[in-house]
Amino acid sequence: MKQYKSSTMSALTAGLLAAAALFAGSAHALDTAKAKQLAQANACMGCHAVDKKLVGPAYKDMAAKYKGMDAAKLAVSIKAGGAGKWGPIPMPAQGRLSDAEAKVLAEWVLAGAPN
Ligand code: HEC
Repeated sequence: MKQYKSSTMSALTAGLLAAAALFAGSAHALDTAKAKQLAQANACMGCHAVDKKLVGPAYKDMAAKYKGMDAAKLAVSIKAGGAGKWGPIPMPAQGRLSDAEAKVLAEWVLAGAPN
């Protein structure tokens, strides 16, 4: 009986872990690690910070302004760059980014650039 109980418990634990892993790996979960890596690798962090304005607006301010926006739409803006929405300084186009990379970044920005 004792044996039976403990194996039930470990089966349950394994099930929960598997569920957590599935959730973390799901295509629609926010991929924070990937987004941060892309932001470092593509110099986003040279012009943007999470909660203060640098050359470009803070990620938190963008998240507030664009709350509820479709990430695909913001991804297009990231790739295209632009000017005049936040101030006179333009953001250069980010042509090296794939659509998928731009989308990961857009989702992360819209979530307020969590760590
Ligand atoms: C050379 C500096 C610079 C770099 C590099 C840069 N940005 Fe920007 N970014 C800006 C500026 C300046 C603006 C504001 C443009 C405006 O006023 O329309 C901006 C605007 C944005 C916006 C808001 C766009 C909108 O439609 O309002 C997002 C999102 C953004 N940047 C994300 C990124 C990401 C992600 C990267 C890296 C792939 C990046 N930026 C790289 C300077 C930069």
